[in-house]
Amino acid sequence: MNLPLDLEPQRIPQHLAIIMDGNGRWATNQGLPRIAGHRQGAKTLKEILRCCKDWGIKALTVYAFSTENWQRPLQEVNFLMRLFERFLRRELAEMYQEGVKLSFIGDLSALPPSLQTEIEHSTVKTANNQAIHFTLAINYGSRNEITRACHQIAALVEQGKLNAAAVNEQLVEQYLYTVNTSPPDLLIRTSGEMRLSNFLLWQLAYTEMYFTDIFWPDFDREELYKALLSYQQRDRRFGKVKPLLSA
Ligand code: IPE
Ligand code: IPE
Ligand code: MG
Repeated sequence: MNLPLDLEPQRIPQHLAIIMDGNGRWATNQGLPRIAGHRQGAKTLKEILRCCKDWGIKALTVYAFSTENWQRPLQEVNFLMRLFERFLRRELAEMYQEGVKLSFIGDLSALPPSLQTEIEHSTVKTANNQAIHFTLAINYGSRNEITRACHQIAALVEQGKLNAAAVNEQLVEQYLYTVNTSPPDLLIRTSGEMRLSNFLLWQLAYTEMYFTDIFWPDFDREELYKALLSYQQRDRRFGKVKPLLSA
């Protein structure tokens, strides 16, 4: 599907990040168990990924499971792990054909081994695809990511391989899960919550934010269009002063 006419193709965000929130409340509102919301949320994700690709967004990063989400009831956690695995197994062939390059960020070593296998397989299979870079954050937490980077850098200093004075922002970025990816231009969070919940704290330093009350399972092309329209009206100054228009 083509880009809506009132969106400017040259001002489409290159990288979109989404905190997909509100699955549980969506389900509860309909008298369904929370897991029904997660199932519907996975369908939404598939649609939104395709829409992003159609509209020329080059990278999509979504928060699927946080380091804090282990504290949910075991039954819900187990359901989510199986859902991720099923999503990859069912959708991989189509995503591959559509040119989707899959990546995963987070501490993947704590995930069920069968999910790790699917993750590895889908990463390798789609590594050379170029239509859109789709990153799933699973067992991801920014504090964990930054602490892990600190450990790795400290170890190099300890071993005499790096001078402490050489530690700068570019170096730190080399040790984040998101190495070699540009920071998000736009962050969307659904369900009315206005917080980051430990998502991409470093990478979102200059990202535009968009919050909507819509629950993730109800987020569709029309809602994405509204978010992009809002983004295109923003003035991204990056700390500078906007040049005066000459009269
Ligand atoms: C987001 O929806 C999905 C995950 C965190 C895995 P929630 O499950 O947080 O839904 P609410 O916020 O309880 O409605
Ligand atoms: C953030 O949502 C994590 C994901 C969307 C995966 P949560 O629902 O876990 O966040 P809080 O607990 O409301 O901050
Ligand atoms: Mg939530």
